[in-house]
Amino acid sequence: MSAVMNKNEQQVQQWRDDFPILARQVHGKPLVYFDSAATAQRPRQVLAAMDDFYQNHNANVHRGVHSISGEATDLFEAARRKLATHINAASEREVIFTRGSTEAINLVAQAYLRPLLQAGDEILISHMEHHSNIVPWQLLREQTGAVLKVIPVTDQGELDTQALPGLINARTKMLGLVHVSNALGSINPVREVCALARQHGVTTIIDGAQALPHLQVDVQALGCDFYSLSGHKMYGPTGIGALYGREQLLEDMPPWQGGGEMIRTVSFEETVWNDLPAKFEAGTPNIAGAIGLGAAVDYLQGIGLDAIAAHEQDLLSHASAALQQIDGLRIIGQARNKVSVISFVIDGVHPHDLGTIVDHHGFAIRTGHHCTMPLIKRFGLPATARASLALYNTRNEIDRFIPALKQACDMLR
Ligand code: ALA
Repeated sequence: MSAVMNKNEQQVQQWRDDFPILARQVHGKPLVYFDSAATAQRPRQVLAAMDDFYQNHNANVHRGVHSISGEATDLFEAARRKLATHINAASEREVIFTRGSTEAINLVAQAYLRPLLQAGDEILISHMEHHSNIVPWQLLREQTGAVLKVIPVTDQGELDTQALPGLINARTKMLGLVHVSNALGSINPVREVCALARQHGVTTIIDGAQALPHLQVDVQALGCDFYSLSGHKMYGPTGIGALYGREQLLEDMPPWQGGGEMIRTVSFEETVWNDLPAKFEAGTPNIAGAIGLGAAVDYLQGIGLDAIAAHEQDLLSHASAALQQIDGLRIIGQARNKVSVISFVIDGVHPHDLGTIVDHHGFAIRTGHHCTMPLIKRFGLPATARASLALYNTRNEIDRFIPALKQACDMLR
């Protein structure tokens, strides 16, 4: 890096300083973390919020009359309000804390759709879904005799929207679509797809796990019925995420799991469910996780999604151009609208070998199918290497990645 940093570099350096892990070394080299699509790093602010909870306010929520239980409840519910405001839910009753996006989708499959499905009814998903938006529907297919249909993806890695109208019919009961592909980075035209689904009376669930770290998400503007997210992809903790659902749908749904918290009264004869959102939050929740997620929302808002997107788009174009210096490298997923996630393959080099060698230079990249086996297979590949860039990455890190890749190629070919 040049001795004098420009304004943008100074700003990014300030962001980097929030992430203690970026100061560590791997194999004696500075860590370059290019695996934020698998899980992002956490800033001090998130770590501090969780630490403060455990050190000063740890108690169960919604239960005790004692002071610290009240404090824990206030912190927990404040986190829900922050998240509801962040995604522009109409009310915090529409935000259910879950373990992550996966659990949110399973909740919708089992509590919303299962009671409505008849054999032969159809569920529509896309070819670029994460396994978390495929397997819950396959389980449901086995349970109900429903049919799973798939919207194709183009060679460019975009949703084939031309094919979509022909796949929706009177039997379609649910449309599940990833907002941003974790494997290719493609941003899907969610608003248009949801509008089309609505015209046909089809309920929509959008998997937003990979969207929240990159985009300002507005669930009302998108027009979806359900939206799922994961804390750890958006600089928050693991083991916490959320389901957004339109209030009327959530009201009409039966609970998913039974236990404490989700009830108003229990007798052996009859149990009365609690109000939203507690109806879907059986058991002691991940209180610290929710508070950490609230802090991650504060962090993202403090920087601003526009500033993050501008920086990441710069990294995306810089990296896409720089990677062309590698002989035989092909980027998989060239969507016109994409985030800073770059999947690639190199002729004669297995991604796993590549990942292992660049790790010795300090670069953490992901290799494999990225939990999207059907998508990677669709491109005729067993695996790709993936560099996923986040707000704390720099052009300089990308510039240092290229010689590491070249050296790996020289060793492996
Ligand atoms: N699905 C996560 C990824 O994209 C783990 O790497």
